[in-house]
Amino acid sequence: MKHTQLKPFPKDFFWGASTSAYQVEGAWNEDGKGPSVIDIREKYPEGTTDYKVASDHYHRYQEDVKLMAEMGFKAYRFSIAWTRIIPNGTGEVNPKGLEFYNNLINELIKYKIEPIVTMYHFDLPYALQARGGWSNRETIDAFVEYAKVLFENYGDRVKYWLTINEQNMMIMHGKALGTLDPNLEDPDRELYQQNHHMLVAQAKAMDVCHQMLPQALIGPAPNISYIYPASSKPEDILAAQNFNSIRNWLYLDAAVYGRYNKTAWSFLEEKGYVPTIVEGDMEILKNAKPDFIAFNYYTSKTVEASNGEGNDKNNTGDQEIVIGEAGVYKGHNNPNLPKNEFGWEIDPVGFRTTLREVYDRYQLPIIITENGLGAFDKIEEDGSVRDPYRIDYLKKHLEQMQLAITDGVEVFGYCPWSAIDLISTHQGAKKRYGFIFVEREEFDLKELRRIPKQSFYWYKEVIANNGENL
Ligand code: BG6
Repeated sequence: MKHTQLKPFPKDFFWGASTSAYQVEGAWNEDGKGPSVIDIREKYPEGTTDYKVASDHYHRYQEDVKLMAEMGFKAYRFSIAWTRIIPNGTGEVNPKGLEFYNNLINELIKYKIEPIVTMYHFDLPYALQARGGWSNRETIDAFVEYAKVLFENYGDRVKYWLTINEQNMMIMHGKALGTLDPNLEDPDRELYQQNHHMLVAQAKAMDVCHQMLPQALIGPAPNISYIYPASSKPEDILAAQNFNSIRNWLYLDAAVYGRYNKTAWSFLEEKGYVPTIVEGDMEILKNAKPDFIAFNYYTSKTVEASNGEGNDKNNTGDQEIVIGEAGVYKGHNNPNLPKNEFGWEIDPVGFRTTLREVYDRYQLPIIITENGLGAFDKIEEDGSVRDPYRIDYLKKHLEQMQLAITDGVEVFGYCPWSAIDLISTHQGAKKRYGFIFVEREEFDLKELRRIPKQSFYWYKEVIANNGENL
């Protein structure tokens, strides 16, 4: 639809950006922090660093927040490391861990930046994984116990809560993300059992949040991308519907309506992945109601029909590269879209489509909690960092978001990835996303100096004008 006049961004729009604890903080074993599944990962992809120091945000958060304030951030979405708060996953609470996030939250509030807290972003306590992780129903209780500690300690200042970051990607791409338990005997089936437990844990946490903090708002934070059919062939349309259900709606239907998406369920039945659901679980899912939907969007996906012969599945995929499922769908390169340096397609219009689709299906306010471009930024001879490609990516996505707002979609915030350079999930320190450059290399930590990039100044302008002159 072409609009003759665009609706403006809402007045109190949350302009900000995102990070996650293990990718930015460093201090991996300091002040009583316990190990997470990320810390004990035995191997990192070749040529990539670990997360021990990352961007050293743990020690430099004041400097970082000051820079965010200089950009004019109205919100900052970060995650809390479960293992800083409860080092063993359950039991004793670590006062030093509580103190760090208390300080961070206070620092944000000092600059009138709204803290938006992700409770769990890939870094499950290792102590829980050693007892089966999400395969073990006890992890549901551990998550609820942890959630209560967060609500008790930060609920007076934190109003916006996100339960689990990209649960769908942990299920579908756990190997690339480093969250997959290497000891699982039958990962494909087991993952959907884990998924079910996470859905129950999320529902319980939303419920507890509403009971403990009546003023607070809470929602899920999956990675959502609309799926296109490779052609108008009816079989390709069905394949796109299949993948939309398996990748997207399975997670949101459960979070919002408390039910399993039928197409996704028939996929689970067909593959033998149906989880064990105990009495009361569906009740718990039904009773929990999110207040909003947060989602991460990087690009759309395209699929064609899979003829089911042979196996369309392989393990080269990551969060944004579609693989396939024999007889269900098969990844397809979209010839209409350019790709970034890491092979991810770039599709700003798909962002509008995805926003419209999510809003149509769920009718809840939306906040974008990730969107961005990974690139090999570098310091120029004059000391600046120029990233016009990132500005171009973000600008085009913001334009499409404004069109979606004009279409009627209720969007209340935009927190792209990432506020500051951090370590990619599986492509190291050299794959950068931030508005703020962190001077370090893959294996050479250098000074970890902060340098505002060209996109920093561009975003500052966008925020100052409330997105008026994109
Ligand atoms: C999302 C994750 O999948 O994508 C982030 O929530 C991640 O943790 C981001 O960093 C970008 O992906 P990558 O693999 O380039 O770091």
